[in-house]
Amino acid sequence: MPATPDLWHHYGRARATRDRAVPPAFRWDWAQAGGPGAEVLGGLGGRVVGELGAGAGRHAAHLVAYHAPAEVVAVDASPAQYALAVGLYGHLAPRLRSVHAGAVEHLLGRAGAYDVLYSVFGAVDFTEPRALLPAACAALRPGGRLVFSTLAHHVGGAPARPEVTATEIPARTPEGTVVSMRRWVLAEVAGVTALERAGFAGVRTGVLPAAGDREHAVGTLLVRAFRPAG
Ligand SMILES: C[S@@+](CC[C@H](N)C(=O)[O-])C[C@H]1O[C@@H](n2cnc3c(N)ncnc32)[C@H](O)[C@@H]1O
Repeated sequence: MPATPDLWHHYGRARATRDRAVPPAFRWDWAQAGGPGAEVLGGLGGRVVGELGAGAGRHAAHLVAYHAPAEVVAVDASPAQYALAVGLYGHLAPRLRSVHAGAVEHLLGRAGAYDVLYSVFGAVDFTEPRALLPAACAALRPGGRLVFSTLAHHVGGAPARPEVTATEIPARTPEGTVVSMRRWVLAEVAGVTALERAGFAGVRTGVLPAAGDREHAVGTLLVRAFRPAG
């Protein structure tokens, strides 16, 4: 039985050869060009923070370098992305801890461990919400927050889905074969309902307008939600 191909093998690989810097800014939007920054996460001093689908770890590295958290745990299921993160930012350990794991598997059994969880077009986009969101809620301490950026509509312009249903999108194996993977592109109302069903409260959403050239002209949905305090 062949192992599952790593469909994130190519992502960010070229950039990693020429840009090893800790980013000086934290961006939520698709083009990584503007909009709000790390302040959306609340004060991070002394906090335990987890990133779900951290990729090469650039956002997590920024938080460690500029916002004094106790720890940022950068979780990613892709062997290639985990290796990139360790290669680029291993020197920020132990406050930056890269973990090679699926987000759901990581969160289960860590009840109340996190003050803040976030995702930048990460695991929240690519994981069955009915599995990920309850696990994220339980892994937050009461009053803890989840923040994520996701697509406001499909790349290419088709509207987001009004139901919790995945879209098949193209992906490439390490050898270059084109296959497909599932991405959840949910309309605001569907996302809010999924969050509330998972136990979250105080859900707030906002659309960050598309920025950049035509390839990057994709709107971003920025979502905040809290595990109830009581
Ligand atoms: C589009 S990339 C974004 C990476 C990073 N957040 C960034 O902004 O560059 C999506 C990442 O989510 C990761 N991912 C997808 N599903 C995941 C899951 N269930 N658990 C952990 N990581 C996951 C992929 O491996 C990939 O690195």
